[in-house]
Amino acid sequence: MDKITVSTLKEMKEAGQKIAMITAYDYPSALFAEEAGAEVLLVGDSLGMVVLGYDSTVPVTMEEMLHHVKAVVRGAKKSLVVADMPFMSYQASISDALYNAGRFLKEGGAQAVKLEGGSEFADLVHKLVVAGIPVMGHIGLTPQSVNALGGYKVQGKDLKTAQKLMDDAKALEEAGAFSIVLECVPAALAAKITQSLSIPTIGIGSGADCDGQVLVYHDVLGMYPRMLPKFVKRYLDTASLIKEALEKYVFEVKNKTFPEEKHSFNVAPEILDRIY
Ligand code: KIV
Repeated sequence: MDKITVSTLKEMKEAGQKIAMITAYDYPSALFAEEAGAEVLLVGDSLGMVVLGYDSTVPVTMEEMLHHVKAVVRGAKKSLVVADMPFMSYQASISDALYNAGRFLKEGGAQAVKLEGGSEFADLVHKLVVAGIPVMGHIGLTPQSVNALGGYKVQGKDLKTAQKLMDDAKALEEAGAFSIVLECVPAALAAKITQSLSIPTIGIGSGADCDGQVLVYHDVLGMYPRMLPKFVKRYLDTASLIKEALEKYVFEVKNKTFPEEKHSFNVAPEILDRIY
């Protein structure tokens, strides 16, 4: 089983093969996603919302991310594990960014990091790459900037912002990023950006012509009831299945139909007789 590397992804783009990326936050999600054939597992800071129950990704800390990165790495033997740099782990200074990104590789065992932002971060991306840390960019809707963007909205709909996205993508490629996530970018613009780059684009809400797609694990499986963006395809309604199973368990406990004989252990009667 050959490990997927950043070079594999470039080769896949060149061969016209689509890249499947999905978020994973723990050991079982990593196992299942890898077994399903996903080339890239993103330990997204979306874990702040779908696993930790925050209202946005803004509060997520390095320690929270590292805890989950380690669990995913234990489950991923083949897939490339990308760790998301949380809000303010890389924006304040280059030395913070190098230190924090380094922790994801050294302590967490990830093979790459992802960070949100365009040309303003090109210098930082270059420094990380020179230090030996592969970087995935992320432009378009960048959820860590939700307060500045005024909500979760499609980006690049007018000439100025569309051109800025193209410029950002080119600047990130030039800086050495190995791939770029395009989030909520109009499909035709995402297609044009994808054609203009030699590195793969991974789309989320950005149409079918990106080199790959990414979705949040909990959205794919119907495990996050609080919101369902338009671009999500829910492949399973896990929340209903879990609720149904848990209600059955609670009912059987109260009804005394669980546990049954087969769920219990025996002790020899002569031992029991001697216990007082
Ligand atoms: O945090 C995340 O899950 C992400 C993806 C949605 C791209 O950044």
